[in-house]
Amino acid sequence: MEKYEIKSEVCVYQDSELRAEDRELVEAAKQATTNSYSPYSRFKVGAALRLQDGTIVTGSNQENASYPLGLCAERTAIFHAQHMHPDQPIRAIAIAAWANGHFYEEPIPPCGACRQVMLEVENRYKSPMRVLLCGSRGVHVLESVKCLLPFQFVSENLKK
Ligand code: THU
Repeated sequence: MEKYEIKSEVCVYQDSELRAEDRELVEAAKQATTNSYSPYSRFKVGAALRLQDGTIVTGSNQENASYPLGLCAERTAIFHAQHMHPDQPIRAIAIAAWANGHFYEEPIPPCGACRQVMLEVENRYKSPMRVLLCGSRGVHVLESVKCLLPFQFVSENLKK
């Protein structure tokens, strides 16, 4: 039997400790929650992306009466950014969630489907995408999507 460990590093910052550009991204993610269409879950998620050229692209979760057809905030933002700015690597994503009148104290980790899509971003642009998970008690920062999804299914796995 062999055994190995996979470690992920997470740094937790107070708002005042963040670099200005990250603070701006966190604010954009929070603001994006206001455009969430979530009459079924009443859980408003916002995502904000920082592109290589500095542009910020946002998205929010969009639900449907046929529940599985809705889309998470992360994928809404990523697919829109890749459509509008296909040549711009996405350098960072900030994610915030709001319900019952307040932002969440603890960060909301992206669902598995979004992690897989976020991973594809890193592989497509061959550069890491930083992940900022916003909680009202701190912003949890991961330097790469690989920290969220240590065992990755990528295009190389399709090669025989
Ligand atoms: N949701 C997101 O937008 N992002 C996540 O990472 C987790 C879940 C949305 C999907 C659905 O509209 C609502 O939150 C409740 O699951």
